[in-house]
Amino acid sequence: MISFELNGDKVTYEGDPNMPLLWYVRDELNLTGSKFGCGVGMCGACTMHLNGQPVRSCSTPMAAANGARVTTIEGLNSEAAVAIQQAWQKLDVVQCGYCQSGQVMSATALLENNKQPNDQDIDMAMQGNICRCATYHRIRAAIHEASDTLAKEVS
Ligand code: FES
Ligand code: FES
Repeated sequence: MISFELNGDKVTYEGDPNMPLLWYVRDELNLTGSKFGCGVGMCGACTMHLNGQPVRSCSTPMAAANGARVTTIEGLNSEAAVAIQQAWQKLDVVQCGYCQSGQVMSATALLENNKQPNDQDIDMAMQGNICRCATYHRIRAAIHEASDTLAKEVS
């Protein structure tokens, strides 16, 4: 049996340990904020946090979640996550929206690990998240905006 914490709740799973985490979260728990894009770890639409680190849940087997702490967009509520979501709204980052759950997950993980990333840090952290609408400039600006907000809260 596989058991782990999902968005603060304990969950257990007794099926195929090789099934992708994304399938379980979307199809069995009906949490559809994490998107299916490529299905092979190349686009970032399915990004979740596993013990605070961004992972591609389409390519993460259920077995990898055992004993771990998993967070999806529905459970994101850290200080960095709030700052990111407010910056996303303020700068009107979203276009079609399909990639944005994954973008927010990766951006939040970045700020949780590095509160003042430079452009290079941002490009490195976000390089696995593809946006077909090319919102990259607004994403980068919004991460800086959220970083400034966090810095003001500390000072
Ligand atoms: S759907 Fe997981 S990386 Fe594209
Ligand atoms: S906003 Fe459309 S794919 Fe990114």
